[in-house]
Amino acid sequence: MKGKICIITGSNSGIGKQTALGLAIMGATVVLVVRDQERGENARREIIKQTSNNSVDLLICDLSSMDSIRHFAKEFKNKYDRLDVLVNNAGALFNKREVTAEGFERTLAVNYLGPFLLTHELLDLLKKSAPSRIINVSSGLAKNGRVDLEDLQSEKNYVGTKAYSSMRAPVYSNTKLMLMMFTYELARRVKGSGVTANVLMPGFVATNLGKNSGSLSSSIMFKMVRPMQISANKGAETSIYLASSDEVKDVSGKCFAKKKEVLTCLESYDEDVQKRLWNKTESMLGLA
Ligand SMILES: NC(=O)c1ccc[n+]([C@@H]2O[C@H](COP(=O)([O-])OP(=O)(O)OC[C@H]3O[C@@H](n4cnc5c(N)ncnc54)[C@H](OP(=O)(O)O)[C@@H]3O)[C@@H](O)[C@H]2O)c1
Repeated sequence: MKGKICIITGSNSGIGKQTALGLAIMGATVVLVVRDQERGENARREIIKQTSNNSVDLLICDLSSMDSIRHFAKEFKNKYDRLDVLVNNAGALFNKREVTAEGFERTLAVNYLGPFLLTHELLDLLKKSAPSRIINVSSGLAKNGRVDLEDLQSEKNYVGTKAYSSMRAPVYSNTKLMLMMFTYELARRVKGSGVTANVLMPGFVATNLGKNSGSLSSSIMFKMVRPMQISANKGAETSIYLASSDEVKDVSGKCFAKKKEVLTCLESYDEDVQKRLWNKTESMLGLA
């Protein structure tokens, strides 16, 4: 990976941090994209210390803010003239419905609109740098998701992470299904450009996910299930594989788990919904 420039969002903790570490070990230039300077600096120092790779950069971006994403993309392009790998890893879930200052439901903003817009803003650079790769971190919970094109913001029906229902987390699952469908549609749209787009399910991983969901009962629940979870290091293996392996250099529009191609739920392959979701997202983001 020497000479390759890789962006990993949400790389100050969990799967993202281990992905950054794995790619830094391989010699890549790794750009940590995080929302908090201090947490980011800590991760950056740790990765440099463990890998002896000094090419670990830190840039700030709040994925729930479309303004912040546009600002970040400009900053990145001013600093770098190529981008080989974009890992849309950052994700979050919330107990209560919250709306961002820009008017977007927060889970949708972080898990779906953010990666959609970030990819859109960086696509010209990825094409210029081809062969290049886009990797989206979805979840096995996407199979519980639904795409309601009339209620993408979950205004009519919000079910967050409540005790005992956290594992279903419908709004989270919906956004992860959207990310999956976005990947399949994107792969078709960039076909022939030298850019690949794949999605992955990391497994059930012991990370900070859910800890900040705002519900004491769900954080207790997350502690209880810890013995069933795999390490963040293990959870990052598929992201690292998709970012670096020659085996997948020409593979696009697929989903992976445990470094193997897997099929996803039937709804995820509905090309009509994929297209309508894409168009609707573009209008929401003012890109149409
Ligand atoms: N853990 C699992 O079992 C599991 C299973 C399936 C899929 N996933 C997915 O894997 C990805 C990584 O999650 P993880 O399990 O490693 O959890 P994590 O340790 O909580 O990491 C999530 C990362 O996303 C960042 N993030 C959250 N909101 C953000 C925002 N508004 N702007 C920028 N960054 C933001 C977090 O930053 P802060 O530290 O600042 O909050 C953190 O760095 C997520 O997309 C998650 O949905 C996880």
